[in-house]
Amino acid sequence: MPSTSNLTPPVVTRDGRLITIRLIQSEDKDALLAFGSALPEEDWLYLESDMRSADTVARLANAQGAEHWRQVVAVDGERIAAYASIRMHAGRYSHVAAVQMVVGEDWRRQGLGRAMGAVIVAEAQRLEASKIIAEMLEAQRNGQAIFAHLGFRTEGTLIAHARDRFGKRHNLVVMALVIE
Ligand SMILES: CC(C)(COP(=O)(O)OP(=O)(O)OC[C@H]1O[C@@H](n2cnc3c(N)ncnc32)[C@H](O)[C@@H]1OP(=O)(O)O)[C@@H](O)C(=O)NCCC(=O)NCCS
Repeated sequence: MPSTSNLTPPVVTRDGRLITIRLIQSEDKDALLAFGSALPEEDWLYLESDMRSADTVARLANAQGAEHWRQVVAVDGERIAAYASIRMHAGRYSHVAAVQMVVGEDWRRQGLGRAMGAVIVAEAQRLEASKIIAEMLEAQRNGQAIFAHLGFRTEGTLIAHARDRFGKRHNLVVMALVIE
């Protein structure tokens, strides 16, 4: 079972807020639901897990002991400021981990995405991943910018590969970081 202690020294945002980054805990359910419910509508077009749903949030928070999955939260006082996860694939892709990351609107452009990204790469190494992939819609330019900052390179674009919550199709950009 992974440790729940802080994964980095506290992060100081550009506007001076002190943020703790740690693994998710089952006690985070309410704060995670509040975080998910406050995300801008357009984020919901793209996100894999619907963090506005109490059931989904309970499933995420209760999975803190999962062997091939690490979920990390950034905590600002009582509030969750950001969520990221890294999950190992299975079978022939079992050396590959997939990352997801979302920073709350109130905390964007404060350096938190970059700090969360570094933590998630370290967690992937702990899970013995030798490659990390981040999949995002072509329209998610911020996501591409931040993963490029973290050293990820675009490996390809899959045409009309993803559907948003309204069923509209989007091109999917696959970025990767090889860490062996
Ligand atoms: C993408 C996201 C995680 C970035 O988080 P963040 O905390 O705002 O990122 P940071 O402040 O650490 O920014 C790091 C760098 O990424 C780039 N970046 C981040 N947001 C950007 C934006 N809106 N426009 C242009 N560049 C941006 C910048 O180069 C930035 O460095 P700088 O501020 O020194 O110029 C956040 O916007 C988000 O959650 N978006 C919705 C979900 C999503 O797209 N997730 C990614 C796909 S999994």
